Amino acid sequence: MPITDVEQNKQHSEPRRKKRLLKGLAAKDGLVRHPFDLEFGVRTSGLIAGRHLAVGHKNDHHATAYYAIAPSVFRGMIVRWRRCRPLAPIDEFTFIDLGAGMGRALLLAAEYPFRAVLGVELHPTLARIARRNLALWRAAGRARTPMRMICADVAAFTLPPGPCVAFLFNPFGAPVLRRMLRNWARSHVFHPGQLDILYVNNEQESVLEQHPDLTPLFKGQVRRSPADTLADRKILTSQPDGEYAAMAWEDCSIYRWVG
Ligand SMILES: C[S@@+](CC[C@H](N)C(=O)[O-])C[C@H]1O[C@@H](n2cnc3c(N)ncnc32)[C@H](O)[C@@H]1O
Repeated sequence: MPITDVEQNKQHSEPRRKKRLLKGLAAKDGLVRHPFDLEFGVRTSGLIAGRHLAVGHKNDHHATAYYAIAPSVFRGMIVRWRRCRPLAPIDEFTFIDLGAGMGRALLLAAEYPFRAVLGVELHPTLARIARRNLALWRAAGRARTPMRMICADVAAFTLPPGPCVAFLFNPFGAPVLRRMLRNWARSHVFHPGQLDILYVNNEQESVLEQHPDLTPLFKGQVRRSPADTLADRKILTSQPDGEYAAMAWEDCSIYRWVG
């Protein structure tokens, strides 16, 4: 049906509907931008509780929350991983963030000479924001390696061939972690040492501990820098529901697939 002039004028004069942000990403939800975002002009700040990450996927109710890794903890984990004598030089490893959110860990990983950096994220809005961040990173000349973001469920994702570092910042509960490991064991033939798993805020540690193909290389607390502690404390104390606590460290572990 043709639109009349009156209707057309009405359409033009109506205020444009504001895009609704995911709960946890708006100023009214207590959003405080992390200094990392302010310094580099990217968008990775925000705290989204797991219940607000539902997308209608069978695994979405196992999502813990969206929150980006403290840069100092990320770098601390890479230092510890490199001390664990990786099987090959870093430029032969693909870095994969499982539950990559808006991509802060990918941006940080791209500071290292990995063979490639790959993110897997279930929520399409977060994956879209991450892609924009990756583009900004490349445009600023900060990426030392190819970067890519995939919107998918980790439990259905197959690892690329060659040595891999899988990174997890407490993204989901034990059922998804088990499914993901089962899928890897079925779909992949790893040579011993070809897969290292870096697990930050390792709530589901027992799943890795009990896995027959994995051996622990590191277990301990990785401290936030004073600046990151301050930033995370400021962000977390401004949450309206006060659900999450700010700590000066993260409990972490590193495992190696030994087959
Ligand atoms: C704590 S955030 C970590 C963000 C990012 N790794 C970082 O360090 O900045 C966890 C992310 O995992 C995602 N996630 C949860 N379950 C998932 C699944 N089954 N597949 C893919 N991503 C998932 C969530 O949507 C959330 O963005």
